[in-house]
This record gives sequence, C-alpha cells and structure tokens, in this order.
Amino acid sequence: MCGIVGYIGESQAAPVLLDGLSKLEYRGYDSAGIAVYDGEQIQVQKAVGRLKVLSELTHDGATMPGCSGIGHTRWATHGAPSGANAHPHYNQSETIAVVHNGIIENYLKLRKRLEEKGYQFRSDTDTEVVAHLLDRYYKGDPVEAITKIMHRVEGSYALGIIFKEHPGHIYAVRKDSPLIVGHGKDGNLIASDVPAVLKYTRNVYFIQNEEIAVLTGETIAFYNVDGEEIQKGSTTIDWDINAAEKGGYEHFMLKEMYEQPQTVRDTLSPRIKDGSIVIEELGMDEEEIRGIRKIHIVACGSAYHAGVTAKYVFEGMARIPVEVDLASEFRYRNPILMDDELVIVISQSGETADSLAALREAKRKGVKTLGIVNVVGSSIAREADRVMYTWAGPEIAVATTKAYTAQLIAEYLLAVKFAQARGEVTEAEVEGYLKDLQRLPDQIEMLLSNKERIQHFANRYIAAKDVFFVGRGIDYAISLEGSLKLKEISYIHSEAYAAGELKHGTISLIEEGTLVAAVVTQENLYKKTVSNMVELTSRGAFVLAVTNAGNREIEKAADYVVYIPQTNKYFTNSLAIIPLQLFSYYVAVGKGCDVDKPRNLAKSVTVE
Ligand code: G6P
Repeated sequence: MCGIVGYIGESQAAPVLLDGLSKLEYRGYDSAGIAVYDGEQIQVQKAVGRLKVLSELTHDGATMPGCSGIGHTRWATHGAPSGANAHPHYNQSETIAVVHNGIIENYLKLRKRLEEKGYQFRSDTDTEVVAHLLDRYYKGDPVEAITKIMHRVEGSYALGIIFKEHPGHIYAVRKDSPLIVGHGKDGNLIASDVPAVLKYTRNVYFIQNEEIAVLTGETIAFYNVDGEEIQKGSTTIDWDINAAEKGGYEHFMLKEMYEQPQTVRDTLSPRIKDGSIVIEELGMDEEEIRGIRKIHIVACGSAYHAGVTAKYVFEGMARIPVEVDLASEFRYRNPILMDDELVIVISQSGETADSLAALREAKRKGVKTLGIVNVVGSSIAREADRVMYTWAGPEIAVATTKAYTAQLIAEYLLAVKFAQARGEVTEAEVEGYLKDLQRLPDQIEMLLSNKERIQHFANRYIAAKDVFFVGRGIDYAISLEGSLKLKEISYIHSEAYAAGELKHGTISLIEEGTLVAAVVTQENLYKKTVSNMVELTSRGAFVLAVTNAGNREIEKAADYVVYIPQTNKYFTNSLAIIPLQLFSYYVAVGKGCDVDKPRNLAKSVTVE
C-alpha cells in the first residue's frame, strides 16, 4: 500500500529518504512527505502528487539538513489525497513525527477520546491518532510509549517514528503490515519494502508482528511488546531490484494473489465491531435500508462479475430485487430508476469511463448512489452520494485479483446488513455469517498454499485452444470471473456458461479433451450441475471440478477435483476463485505470456 522509508547515519537523510521513496513508487501513491531532525527541530515537508514535486520543493532534499528522518508515500485511505492528510503527522507540539502504513480500525474511538482530552487534529487520517497517542503516553522513554500504544491501537500498522528528544534514534514497529530494517555501512534504514534499501545494503532484518526496532547510526536493537530486548538474525537479500519490487514474487499478479488474505481481512475487520456489522460510510439507518425497494448494480469487467455474485447474495439473503448491468449498457438504455431504489457502482480504479457515466446517469435521475471503490478520492468515490472503500491497496497487475476479492467482501457485508435491517435473518444466522466471513482470510491462505497442485494441472493446458467454465447460481458468477482471468492473461479462448444453458448451443463445441471447469459449490444445485458434467464427459470433455470439501460424490463425474474449505453458501466465491486465479496464472506463465501487462488491455479504462 503506502511506502515507508527511514534513515539514520552519517549522510544527509533527506536525499536518502527521497531516493528510497522513489524505489517504492511502483506501489502507487497520491502524495508524499518527509520529516528530518535538523539539530533543533523536526522539519516536515509534504507534497500532493508525484514524488518529483517533493524533490523540487526540497531541492532534492538539500534544503533539509539533518542525518535522521522518516519518509512516506501515501495511498489515501482515511481522508482524500491532500497536503494535510499526507504523512508524516506530528503531535501537537511537533516533537514527535510519525509515518504509517495500514489501517487503524478503532481510530474514531481513539480520536474522540483524544479530542476530549484537548488534542486537536489537523488531518482526517487514522494515522494522526498515533502521533497524539504517543504524545499522551510518552514520559521520556519512546519504547515504553510505543508498547503502550500497541495495547490500544487495533488494526494493522507499520510505523516509523522520530522523537525530538531522542535525535540519535529512529523507531519502528509493525503489526500485520510489512516493515524491514536495513543495516548499512554508513547508516541504518527502515522500509516497508526491500527495494527502498537495496542501494545501501543487502543485509536486512524482517520485523515480525508486534516487534519494535530502535535504530541509531551504528546499532539496531529489537524489543517485544513488553519492552524486553530480543535477538534477531539478519538475512542477505540476493534478489535484483526488479524481483525486490515484487517482494520476491515472479509477477505482481502472483504477489497480489498472495496479498488476498490480508486485503480481505483489511476490508472486513474494520466493519465488524462487537459482533455486528458497522458500515458508517453507508450513511443509512435501518429504516432507510428497509425503505429501499430495489438495487441496481453497475460495473465493468471483473467488478461486473462481482456484481453478478452480489445479485445472488442480496436476493438470497436479504430478499431484495437486484438488477446487474454492464455500465456500458446501462448508460445508454435509459434505465428506469425510482426514488426508493439504490444504484451501486463497483470499480477498483474509480475512473472507468462507462462506470462513471452510469453513475452520473443515475444521479441525474435522482436515485441514491453508492460507490464500492478501491482508489480513495477517485472520480466515482467523489461523485457517488456515498462510498464504501475496499481496502485492497494499489493493484499493479492489469488482471485484477485482490481488488475483486475485496469487492466481494464489501458486498457480503452490505448484504448481511440489509438482510438484518429487513428482518430476513435471525441473530443466530448473522452470527454464523460473521464467523464464516472472519474465517475467509485463513481459508484463502490455505488454498494459496496448495498452489503446486494447481500449477501442475495448469501445465497440462498450456496448449489448450478453448476452455469452458460452467456453473449455476453463484457458481455461474464465479465461472464468469474464472473465464475472464484465463482469457485476459493467457490469450486462450474461454467462455463462461450457465451450466443449464450448455445444451442450447455451447455443447456443440465440446471435442475430445476440451477442458471444462465446473464450479460446484451450491449444494442445492449439485445434482443439476453434475448431470451437466456427465453430459460433457460423455462427449469427451475433460472436467475439472471446483467444489466444497466433503463433496466426494463429485469424483464420479469429474476427471480432476479441487476442494475448497467449508463456508456459507453465499461466500463460496471468495474461495472458489482462488484456484481459478492460480490456474490462469500458471497457464499464462507456462505459455510465456506477459502476465502483468497482457496485450491490448489497460488497468484503468478511462475512455469509452
Ligand atoms: C479493466 C481492467 C479490469 C477491471 C475493469 C473495470 O478492464 O483490466 O481488471 O475489472 O477495467 O475496472 P474498474 O477500475 O472500474 O474496476
């Protein structure tokens, strides 16, 4: 997500910080800033936009003297991209400066408490609570103050901190957000990612969850959450800079797939509080939710496929009618929209031309609008009446993975919320949904850890001409996305079909050996899809089935089976898509395709 760099040593810090941040630019950001201790005070400079603006502002760092400092590139989460929201953030007396990656989930509560104690906030960020909290608990010992705030802050964080009273030190701590320490010849560094330090050192310490690092120009010490010193071993990084940008993964797509347990968790957990779903940004009370008669979901590409899933989930769980439209169709079909309806526009970038135009069309017709968007401050986020962010962080690979699975989570949360408000589910059912949702990150991780098996299978299909994906209900929605992934990155012709529709045409394309991926996660439809699978195998198809653990019966009708862990029937997409993403990825790698930048495709389609 955002980028962190810190340096302390013999050299001037600002140029090192700017250089380090430039190595993290690939991660995407909207503003940047650095804080340097100049011998008297902590100086901060920030700029919105490219890092170049900050470099110009500081004459490549020359105007900021001092040999210790921290820097940050921000990808907006809480609060729009702006100078005030850019990091570093100060405490009131500007004696503590903080940079932060991650999401502080209880920041509103903390902010309220701090405000009651007289602390004044200068930004909309969750990060600023950390600066004020440190101020509150600092009694002369920074490590003690850090351990105190660790007990109070919920969520994920990687923090770089400097204290004016301890000019010879920089401090770092992390939980569920990466952070490393680099041991250099003429100074030590912290960074959120390896590329930022490679120019200075290859000798790196990986800070583990809830560990604190204290750096001077020469020494590095580590502490646990109780403030006790701990010993750690360092690692020598032998990746080149390209591999380092990808965190050691071969492609951004693979890296982003592996980020999914975290991005799903980040999108989910801030919205589950004390056993219930809190979606403050929805801005609707239960009565308003009950008043909504119909939902229209509008999107393009994978976001549209997330929308198709949402139709099944909303209708099944909350018993509310849902229409799903491709944005390019919706905008020109003069849709009938009523006052008591809600239009949800789903978009990773928030800039897709057709989705934006569809949103404007809905607004022109006076209907309520909600954006489910990944990029904070993007056009759709700004123009929709309300916005619910997916916390997937910057996605670099053109073919979306983690943004798509984060969109699913946002939809599930909304659907449970709507079902609850409309009295369609019992308390016990809600409890069950929340439990299943919270298990998803670990289950995704488990599926990812089985990648070799999928890789092995994918290698057999590198030369495939056509691949079909079939399923019913939510399994059809999963098939749509599975098929799109494959064609996008491997250039293999692929189609998704509602399994029951096969007989009406597509089955004529099945030849000896044609691969068909059957998604079979909806128990009430098992038998129906299985009979389609039998029709396919009897015509020579090779059927790969993706189904729930325990459904051993399927082995009679499938040639190859991938099992997903048990979850609620509404949430199976989040799990079944993982082997399909891996399959597409390994087919494309096997064919030698440019996985991250497939031909003719753009990450963000801002023209019609
Ligand atoms: C492009 C991307 C897809 C994405 C679609 C919609 O086609 O390659 O991955 O799903 O646009 O983009 P959005 O940013 O609106 O989600």
